[in-house]
Amino acid sequence: MLIVQTIAALRQHLAAFHRPAFVPTMGNLHEGHLALVQRACVLGDVTVASLFVNRLQFLPHEDFDTYPRTPQEDYEALEREGCDVVFAPAEAELYPVPQTYKVHPPAALADILEGHFRPGFFVGVSTVLLKLFGIVRPAVAVFGDKDYQQLLVVRQLVAQFALPIDVVGHPTVRSKDGLALSSRNRYLDAAERVEAVQLSQTLRTMAQALRDGAQDVPSLETQATQAMQARGWSVDYLCIRRSADLQEPTPQDLATPIAADRLIVLGAARLGRTRLIDNLLVGELGGCAEAP
Ligand code: PAJ
Repeated sequence: MLIVQTIAALRQHLAAFHRPAFVPTMGNLHEGHLALVQRACVLGDVTVASLFVNRLQFLPHEDFDTYPRTPQEDYEALEREGCDVVFAPAEAELYPVPQTYKVHPPAALADILEGHFRPGFFVGVSTVLLKLFGIVRPAVAVFGDKDYQQLLVVRQLVAQFALPIDVVGHPTVRSKDGLALSSRNRYLDAAERVEAVQLSQTLRTMAQALRDGAQDVPSLETQATQAMQARGWSVDYLCIRRSADLQEPTPQDLATPIAADRLIVLGAARLGRTRLIDNLLVGELGGCAEAP
């Protein structure tokens, strides 16, 4: 496995390939990230993963400085998965001058949910990804369903700029109790780790209610929020949305028995100092990839 730090070295190496498959990450890799790498390995003729903690997508009070950085472990894990190339640029390589050109995704998609609670987040994500796509020039890029709104933003970015990239979404990898794997789970203490499963369980309860025919979305959302708050969580949102565009479901969206399949339940909430996010496609209730 080749580890490169510069754009020039990466381009030189990738010139020999036709179909790079790319997995962008911020490192501190877990089984969720590695599942994307495994998927990429069967989609391209060379697998490239990037490790870059992107300052542009953090708000000033967020955890940019303390975000876990574990490059040696990450390299070893990537090598085990069969990754061919790791791109691990220094900040000065990716942002040699202040990044004054930025991608502003549409407010209707990017200023809601995560974008509402983390203003500018999807500007930072879209900008670094357009840059990374220009550097790696992948034929395929793999993203996790775990960050479902991010996946939709990337799909629209690629479509609207006519980038020749297939964007592949991969199912969320969870631990046995259902908690979605996340680099931020390491901030949880033992008691919080036990409680953390409530987020995915609450999403399942909401999804099951929809499958059972419940149509009163505001009351489902309020009940779920109050139940989490009563357990000590600080809830940013627990929402039922249309999976295609993350807008609120209309009465027609909710009216037919199969309509639930077009819905997604999304949640973000803080337990102590740890902010967790998760989502569940109502049509996929019951099916989830599980970490070993
Ligand atoms: P990061 O949080 O490191 O996630 C990298 C990729 O791994 C994303 O596509 C994310 O959705 C996926 N992922 C994380 N946890 C997962 C899980 N439990 N199951 C499946 N996939 C999972 O997302 C980012 O980095 C950044 O925003 C980035 C796209 C790299 C831009 O900086």
